[in-house]
Amino acid sequence: MFSRHVTDQIALQLAVPFYAEPLFQLTERNRSYLRRWLPWLDAVTQVDHTRRFLVAQLDRFAKGEALCTLVFWEQELVGVAGFHTIDAVNRIGTIGYWLSETFTGRGIMTRAVHALIDIGQQFYVLQRFEIRCAVENHASRAIPQRLGFQYEGTLRRSERIYDRWHDMAVYALLR
Ligand SMILES: CC(C)(COP(=O)(O)OP(=O)(O)OC[C@H]1O[C@@H](n2cnc3c(N)ncnc32)[C@H](O)[C@@H]1OP(=O)(O)O)[C@@H](O)C(=O)NCCC(=O)NCCS
Repeated sequence: MFSRHVTDQIALQLAVPFYAEPLFQLTERNRSYLRRWLPWLDAVTQVDHTRRFLVAQLDRFAKGEALCTLVFWEQELVGVAGFHTIDAVNRIGTIGYWLSETFTGRGIMTRAVHALIDIGQQFYVLQRFEIRCAVENHASRAIPQRLGFQYEGTLRRSERIYDRWHDMAVYALLR
């Protein structure tokens, strides 16, 4: 199974259905925290939803269309990071992520995204990495900023998160 040792404490592992139960539990524990910025929480209310998500991600991984990894801190599942989409024609990877609130503030996601960029170059020969964050989501925007991405502009009212539209800041890193 694909896995990547990032630091002595952090590892990424291919997201497979085996993790449906712990991933659903992690989602449950962080529901209100994640709901502020992620649009899918209301659609994930039982473990079967998480299992179906993981099966779909595995299928997309097999087709070379996406790569979803689980983030572990000292062997504990703490979040998700990956390429929502891999555009093999244009060699573009779009990165997304979330972390359990308890594990924020330690640099876990910045390092995980750094490792994803390595993986994207090594296995998919990607030449453009893109991250889109709601303009008010400062914790998320800090990740591409720390990793040297360039801010390319803002897509106005381009994502609906429940009852609100958000402007999305686009960051990109070129190989
Ligand atoms: C976005 C999200 C993953 C960021 O989490 P985070 O903990 O701020 O990010 P990191 O894991 O990279 O940690 C950065 C923090 O660790 C600190 N840190 C400690 N050691 C560090 C290191 N070696 N390198 C980088 N940062 C380090 C930083 O100072 C920063 O702390 P600060 O927030 O007090 O400035 C998290 O807020 C989250 O899951 N939010 C909800 C979901 C979401 O918004 N997803 C993104 C949608 S676009």
